Amino acid sequence: MSAQIGVTGLAVMGANLARNLARNGYTVALHNRSVEKTDALLEKHGDEGDFIRTESLQELVDSLEKPRRVLIMVKAGAPVDSVIEQLEPLLEPGDIVIDAGNSHYEDTRRRESALAEKNLHFVGVGVSGGEEGALLGPSIMPGGSRESYDSLGPMLEKISAKYNGEPCCTWVGTDGAGHFVKMVHNGIEYADMQVIGEAYDVLRTAAGIEPAEQAKIFNDWNNGTLSSFLIEITAEVLAHTDARTGKPFVDVVVDSAGQKGTGRWTVVSALELGSPTSGIAESVFARGLSSQRDQRELAQGILEGHEGSVELPEGFVEDVRLALYASKLVSYAQGIDMLTAAATEYGWDLKLDEIASLWRAGCIIRAELLDDIMKAYAADEKPANLLLAPAFAEAIAGAVPAWRRVVATAVQLGIPVPVFSSSLAYYDGLRRKRLPAALTQGLRDLFGAHTYNRVDAEGTFHTLWGEDRSEVEAVDTH
Ligand code: 6PG
Repeated sequence: MSAQIGVTGLAVMGANLARNLARNGYTVALHNRSVEKTDALLEKHGDEGDFIRTESLQELVDSLEKPRRVLIMVKAGAPVDSVIEQLEPLLEPGDIVIDAGNSHYEDTRRRESALAEKNLHFVGVGVSGGEEGALLGPSIMPGGSRESYDSLGPMLEKISAKYNGEPCCTWVGTDGAGHFVKMVHNGIEYADMQVIGEAYDVLRTAAGIEPAEQAKIFNDWNNGTLSSFLIEITAEVLAHTDARTGKPFVDVVVDSAGQKGTGRWTVVSALELGSPTSGIAESVFARGLSSQRDQRELAQGILEGHEGSVELPEGFVEDVRLALYASKLVSYAQGIDMLTAAATEYGWDLKLDEIASLWRAGCIIRAELLDDIMKAYAADEKPANLLLAPAFAEAIAGAVPAWRRVVATAVQLGIPVPVFSSSLAYYDGLRRKRLPAALTQGLRDLFGAHTYNRVDAEGTFHTLWGEDRSEVEAVDTH
């Protein structure tokens, strides 16, 4: 018996993907650096399907049907390069190496091009859904060559999450496109969680609503336009009481958010692409600030807040819901804008409707909203920005009065709402007829002769600031 796919790296994500493949009828060859993990998996779950136990990469490769498919699930970074280096001499032209970890897309591009020279396919696959998703059906974002997808796609589609029966897996584009899309997914995940945190903080601090009560509110919200996995689990976490102290669980957790790095990558990449991804960036910075515990501790004794008093408007909870919804829409709009910019930069033919469709189930940011986003990009006329799609333009405009009230209230009370407020600034910036960027251009021209364009004439100009302030046409732009 030969296996249809081999999996190397059997920590929980790799083990669960291997089990998912076996449960779906594929024969899976298993390999791990230490054989104990392989044996533990076989002992506990060996009866879930057909597995082949191997003790070395050579054995793993020998057990596979051709073209071979080898899925690597090891820690992102150097461990991936090390496994590739060991695998490569064992493989033949046409074989497919799959990296299903959270690798940086630039690494994936580099690896893909190196292996392509050896006529091997390298497929960077974004996988979202955590441990449970890996086992029961994740959202899968494969990159790599189209040809590799013809061989690999049916398997991945079979083990993926389904939304109304449709697989949440589709080929997104060549080389690093899959990992890029997964990275942006994670950036949106950061923003999604941050806006939920801001809503919680405002409800608690401004309106005095305790976590258990808020759990009911989030549960309610989960039935409307905000319906999503993250809102659902927010209700679960807020309802949880700490067994040791009897306090709300959220009160006994240290308020410093960790990060493994994908959110930061998203922001670095957004900056490089010139895409204004402020909501995602503020989410990463909010985690950073939360982790500066020493400075925060000192600041409490030094920095005055001068908070004002505010009479909460009627229907404040609904206002917060709308502020959350609007800010969330902005984060999605910004993430999608990045995808558009990357498609141009890297020559990827990213289909935004398909990407939205594969985020509809299985992944961490799964949300009802994504079905509407998919429809917006499936329309004949694609919106230049998600917020400009008629349905979303109307929805966000409807939320604006409440959004402004919530941001104003939070500002008055000294509650930091970096994503609520920066998203509102983005919204206002996007729709503003004139921006102060004109003044910035004037300043740049004065101190650095960086030139400017005029509203009333073609060409590039420079004012002779140090002379008679006459204007000259500039040839050289800095
Ligand atoms: C997923 C998650 C998963 C993980 C991230 C975020 O889609 O299943 O995004 O990949 O939770 O690595 O982790 P951090 O919050 O630690 O960056």
